[in-house]
Amino acid sequence: MDHFQYRNGILHAEDVPLPAIAAAVASPVYVYSRATLERHARVFQDALKPAGDVEVAFAVKANPNLAVLRVLANAGMGADVVSGGELRRALAAGVGRDRIVFSGVGKTDAELALGLEENIGQFNIESEEEGIELSAIAASKGATAYCTLRVNPDVDAGTHAKISTGKAENKFGVPIDRAPAIYARLAALPGLRLRGVAVHIGSMIADLAPMAAAIMRMGELVGALRGNGHVVTHVDLGGGLGVRYRPDDAPPTPTDYGAMVARATKGWGVRLMFEPGRVIVGNAGVLLTKVIRVKPGATHPFVVVDAAMNDLARPALYDAYHHFEPVIETNTTFTANIVGPVCESGDTFAMARDCGVVGAGDLAVFRTAGAYGATMASTYNSRDLVPEVLVDGSRHAVVADRIPAATVMGAERVPDWLG
Ligand code: LLP
Repeated sequence: MDHFQYRNGILHAEDVPLPAIAAAVASPVYVYSRATLERHARVFQDALKPAGDVEVAFAVKANPNLAVLRVLANAGMGADVVSGGELRRALAAGVGRDRIVFSGVGKTDAELALGLEENIGQFNIESEEEGIELSAIAASKGATAYCTLRVNPDVDAGTHAKISTGKAENKFGVPIDRAPAIYARLAALPGLRLRGVAVHIGSMIADLAPMAAAIMRMGELVGALRGNGHVVTHVDLGGGLGVRYRPDDAPPTPTDYGAMVARATKGWGVRLMFEPGRVIVGNAGVLLTKVIRVKPGATHPFVVVDAAMNDLARPALYDAYHHFEPVIETNTTFTANIVGPVCESGDTFAMARDCGVVGAGDLAVFRTAGAYGATMASTYNSRDLVPEVLVDGSRHAVVADRIPAATVMGAERVPDWLG
């Protein structure tokens, strides 16, 4: 459930009518709802209570805005980070350092050192090589790195190929059949306190079965590691739960997920860690846009909006569906191609979409834009970097300024020798 609802025919974010935000900030703009963020955090945490000792670290990559991170930190979430930049954001937002988990297949020596200097809670090591490097850096600093080994369970998450991470051919983790040997090697290194294993098989998962299969394999691995004499106290089960994008989508609920996890991990006797991203923030945000004009098309009219693929890349990258709705409710519908102004045909949000009718100057939203929206934005076509607004009841605040294309240009230099 989210807090973007029509009231008297006008789409609101909580108590704020979206036209008020367009008037104050202009479009395109991302709009987040604090109450929705808090609700999703609570629902997810409550859903996992049956699984026992649980720690939830929000996957910062899904929405790294500082205000969003602060809301989630206040709601009791840690942070799963994948770069020095995300690590600094988590700290700046007030996430407790012991609640920060550092994932990622390409952590540099500088990033590993930063994590150690900041005394973060856990490193999820993705290869034997990374573990050896982390050990050397930790030992040279006299520090201890608390770690898990990320394992690739070779399970097909059944999601888009570009966001699948748990198949043998994917770059993530160590192959599960090699995990015991690598674990033994890393467990013996100085500076590392290897305390368990981690897994994440992909994102936007619409079916619990592959997740259950991955968890089962992890359970067998934990048993094997213990059989080899290791003390295993932590298992990180990653993120990946899908959300509703289309009105008739019915993804597994956090409660279904929590019940499955509780069943599948019964008797493990470990602290379970989770790294949800999309399920927390996806439906807590919309991209507010304005129709520039409607032009005729060969099959359907083109609705040209002022948001583009540089603001919301998911449709162009993954053929992703984002529900499009006029801000002023209408009973009249038409079939349209919804496109942005960027100069390539990939800048298409929807083809032959049945939607409420809109005309030039009308406001509309792309729903479920709180995850992997603003964070993947660019300034392609020398467009401004899209701003972000957080709504809380009847108040709203700009939580990321629009960065004008001219400011970006201001960071560029033409060397003298070009004449
Ligand atoms: N943990 C790890 C190690 C991850 O790689 C990811 C996502 C997550 C947690 C969070 O997954 P979530 O709960 O959000 O599904 N840009 C793509 C999604 C990329 C996901 C990458 N990893 C999109 O827009 O669909």
